[in-house]
Amino acid sequence: MKILAISGSSRDKNTNYMLWKVLEAIGNEHSAELLTLKDKNIEPCRNCKGCHKTFRCVIQDDMQRIHERLKESEVILFGSPAYFDNVSSTMKLFMDRCLPFYFSGELKGKRVGLVSVGGFKEYIRYDVDGDCFWCQIDNACARTVERCLNSLSYFCDHLRIEVVGRVAAIHGSPELRDKELLELGWRLTEV
Ligand SMILES: Cc1cc2nc3c(=O)[nH]c(=O)nc-3n(C[C@H](O)[C@H](O)[C@H](O)COP(=O)(O)O)c2cc1C
Repeated sequence: MKILAISGSSRDKNTNYMLWKVLEAIGNEHSAELLTLKDKNIEPCRNCKGCHKTFRCVIQDDMQRIHERLKESEVILFGSPAYFDNVSSTMKLFMDRCLPFYFSGELKGKRVGLVSVGGFKEYIRYDVDGDCFWCQIDNACARTVERCLNSLSYFCDHLRIEVVGRVAAIHGSPELRDKELLELGWRLTEV
């Protein structure tokens, strides 16, 4: 089985850690690769509508090769940090350039896992008898990462790809989700 993990992170930190952990569960009997979009030359979609009929993108850059790798992989992982409650700009460039697959349906039936990580912690302020207190809203990070994962899920829906599982983490401690990440890896390669 061929497994391709695609990272939309600007760094080699939390998102990549999560993707590597899923790949660890997948083991050596499969061919697995982590592809980092930040190293790639990916131009924005021009909405030229060329792919509507040809199912091919007219832009000659690194996406041509990435399209081939997506097609030949049975299992795909998408990982993005939450940037303003959404995927990173790098990941969004990649997503938009997958428009040919929306028309061709060529990725239909692939099994996909999604991971995301966020760092924002929101606080509310309240005053009691002249003293000021700050109270952390525990679910703030979970909420923002959920929105990022939803964006990736909608993308997969459009491409008719089956999302097998999603894992969210808080930056600085992605290892707290090791169990879920390993489980996702096992589920993705279950036959
Ligand atoms: C431009 C930008 C926007 C961000 N927006 C959010 C956000 O909306 N919610 C959040 O929880 N964290 C946000 N963060 C924090 C990142 O999600 C966090 O640092 C994450 O760990 C980065 O993943 P990485 O370690 O793979 O780079 C933002 C960071 C940047 C640089």
